[in-house]
Amino acid sequence: MRNIDIFNIDINNINSDDAKQTLALLSLEIKFHDQQYHQKDTPSISDSDYDSLRKSNNALEKKFPELVRKDSPNKSVGFGVKDGFKKISHSVQMLSLDNVFDGDDLTIFLEKVNRYLGQPLSQEISIWAEPKIDGLSASIRYEHGKLIHAVTRGDGQIGEDITANIKTISCIAHTLSGLYPDVVEVRGEVYMNNDDFTALNAQQEKSGGKPFANPRNAAAGSLRQLDSTITASRNLSFFAYAWGQVSEPFAETMADANQALKSWGFTTTPLSIKCDTKDEILNHYKTIEEARPTLDFDIDGVVYKVNDLALQKRLGFVARSPRWATAHKFPAEKGQTILNSITIQVGRTGALTPVANLQPITIGGVVVSRATLHNADEIERKDLRVGDTVILQRAGDVIPQIIGSILEKRPANSQPFIFPTHCPVCNNIAIRDGEDIVMRCTGGTSCSAQVVESIKHFVSRNAFDIDGFGTKQVDGFFEDGLLKTYADIFTLHNHIDTIKSKEGWGEQSVNKLMNAIEIKRTIELDRFIFSLGIRGVGRTMAKLLSKNYKDFSTLRDVILSASKGKETNTYQEMLGMDQFGETVIDAMIRFFTLQSSHDILEKLLKEIKIQSFEINTFDSPLSDKILVFTGTLTQMKRDEAKSKAEVLGAKVSGSVSAKTNFLICGENAGSKATKAQNLGVSILTEQEFIDIVNSVSSDTETLIQNTIAHVADSMATTQKNDKTD
Ligand code: IVH
Repeated sequence: MRNIDIFNIDINNINSDDAKQTLALLSLEIKFHDQQYHQKDTPSISDSDYDSLRKSNNALEKKFPELVRKDSPNKSVGFGVKDGFKKISHSVQMLSLDNVFDGDDLTIFLEKVNRYLGQPLSQEISIWAEPKIDGLSASIRYEHGKLIHAVTRGDGQIGEDITANIKTISCIAHTLSGLYPDVVEVRGEVYMNNDDFTALNAQQEKSGGKPFANPRNAAAGSLRQLDSTITASRNLSFFAYAWGQVSEPFAETMADANQALKSWGFTTTPLSIKCDTKDEILNHYKTIEEARPTLDFDIDGVVYKVNDLALQKRLGFVARSPRWATAHKFPAEKGQTILNSITIQVGRTGALTPVANLQPITIGGVVVSRATLHNADEIERKDLRVGDTVILQRAGDVIPQIIGSILEKRPANSQPFIFPTHCPVCNNIAIRDGEDIVMRCTGGTSCSAQVVESIKHFVSRNAFDIDGFGTKQVDGFFEDGLLKTYADIFTLHNHIDTIKSKEGWGEQSVNKLMNAIEIKRTIELDRFIFSLGIRGVGRTMAKLLSKNYKDFSTLRDVILSASKGKETNTYQEMLGMDQFGETVIDAMIRFFTLQSSHDILEKLLKEIKIQSFEINTFDSPLSDKILVFTGTLTQMKRDEAKSKAEVLGAKVSGSVSAKTNFLICGENAGSKATKAQNLGVSILTEQEFIDIVNSVSSDTETLIQNTIAHVADSMATTQKNDKTD
C-alpha cells in the first residue's frame, strides 16, 4: 500500500488503484475542512490549499468517473448544522460557486455557458461582476414584507435557524420597503468590517478570551451564538446579492435585481457592474483587486453572474454550483521582509521543525512575524539564510509561507544555515530515519519538549478537545510537576488546592477547567486513537482504525499480535488495509509495546470511557444489492431509476449474472429476463421497485429526492453536451 500525499498528486500518471485510495482520502480530508470552516468557524488550512484539494478531487473524478464516491465532496455543499440550533430546510437550495483562477479559466467558463445555450462559443455574454465577500451566507425569508426567519447555508439543503441573531443586525430590515413579492428570500453575506473586527479582538484579549483569526471567523462566531444578546453586542453587517424562493419574478437582469434589493432596504455589494465583454470583465476584476486594500471589509475574489435572469434559469445548476455563476479568486497576497533568525521547535514525535522569525510585516491585514520552514531540505532547497530579504505569501487566511529569498539583497557575509545535530531542548542526538525527510530527537519520553507537545496534542481540538486547556495551561502544569504525561489530566482534580494557589487561578477558573475535563471522560474511539499522538496516525488513519477494529481493546490486541513479526497474519492483514503501510504499523507497534505507553494507558483507561465505533449509515432494502434493469420503464427514465437505486445503496450492473440480486423488468423485456429466470435471480416489476423506493422514510426520501435532482441534472448536462459538442 502506498503512502499518498494528497497535496501532491500527479493526475496524469496516477493509476486506478491509487486514484481510488486518493479519492477516499480526499473525501475525508475535504469533509474535515468543510466542518472546520462551516461548522466550527476555525479553518486549519489556507483557502488555496483547500481549493487545490477540491481541484485534485475534481480532476480525478473526471479522469476516473467510475470511481466517483457516494460520499464525493461534490455531492454536498458546506457542512451540516451545528447542534443547538433549530434546523430549517431551504425551500430553494443554497448553492456554492465553482472557481476560476485566470483569464483562460474565465474563457472556459464563458464557452461552457455558450455551449449550454447553443450559442457560438466566442459570443460575448453580459456578466454582472461583483466582489466576493469573505463572510458567511444567510437566507432571510420575508412574507408580505415581514421578516419570517433567517437560516445559515448549512449543507445547502438544511441550515440553522438564526432568526433571532439576524434581527440584531442593524442593516437588515425587519419590514421591507417599496414593491416586493409576497414571498421573497433575500440571500447575502453576513460579515464584520475591519474596524469592528479590530475593536472586538482588542476587547476579547482584554477579557482573557481568544482573539479571532480574521473578520470572517469573527462574523461566523458572532452570528452562530445560541444567545442572541452576544450577537447584538457585535457589530455585524450584511450585503444582499442573491435570492431563494420568490412568489413572483421581480427583475429581468442582475442589474434590475440589484436595484430591487436596494429599494427593499438592503445594502448591496459596492463595485458591482454589468460587463458586456470578456475584456470588460477582466478589467473590472483588476479594479476590484486594486480596491481591495482600501475596502473596509474582506473580499477574496470577484463573482461573475450571467446578467440575464432568463438565461440563468435555462442554465440551472449542476451538483453544488450554478452554471450561470463562478468565482474568480484572488491569488495569495505577497510581501517582502527580513529573516531575522531561525529557531528549532521540537514536536511531540521529536520532529525538529525550523521556524523563521521575521521582521513583522502586514499581509492582507494580518501581522505576520513567524513562518514554518518545514525541514532542513526546504531551507537548503530555497537557500534561505539569516539576514535574507524573503518573499512571504499568505495564501488564504491562515498559514504564511516563505517562497524564497531575493539574492540581490543578500548581505555579503551571509552563511548557509547549519541544521542542528542535537535536540535543542534535551540535547539528545537527532537522526533522520530512512526516507523520513524530518530530523527527529531520539530522546523520547526523556525529552520534555516531546512530552509537553504530546499533552498539548492530547487536549487539542481534534483530540480530547478540552475547553480552556491550551498551551499556557499545559506549560504551567508541566513546569509545576502536576502533569508528567497526559494520563495525569483526569486526576488533576486531586491537586485542586495547589492549582488554586497558583498565580492566575481562582476558585471559578479552576472549577471551570475541572468541569471541562469532567465532561470529556467519554470519547469516541477515533478521537482517542488520534489523541495518543502516534507518529503517522493522523485523523484519517485514526478514523480508518476505528472503523476497522470497532473497539480499543481489539485494536490493542491486534497490534500486540502484529508485534510478533511481519510474517504474522495480523501484521499482513493490517498491511492489506486501505492506506496502511509498514511505517505506520511499525510506529503503532513501537507505541503499544513501550512500557511507558503501557503505564500511561493503564492509568488513562481507569479514568475514561472509550465509545466503540458505530456505523451510522441508513439501511435500505436495497443496500449492497446488485440490480439490473431491463426493458422500457414507463414511470421514470432508466437513469433516474438507476440513481434512485444507487442512493438506496444498490449497485446497478448492465448484465445479469449469478451475483445479481434483482432484475427489474420494464415493458418488452428480452433475453435478460430469460437469463435471470434460468439463474434463479429474483425478478421485480417496475411498480414493485417503486414500492421499495417509496417504503423508505420521508426524511430519507427528501435526501434521495435532492440527490436525484443533482444526479438527474448532471446527467442532463452530459446529454446536452453530447449533443452540442
Ligand atoms: S452568489 C448561487 N455572490 O461565496 C450562487 N456569493 O463560494 C450564490 N459569496 O456561498 C452565491 N460573495 O457565501 C454570491 N457576491 C457574492 C458573494 C457570494 C460571497 C459567497 C457565498 C457563497 C460562496 C460560494
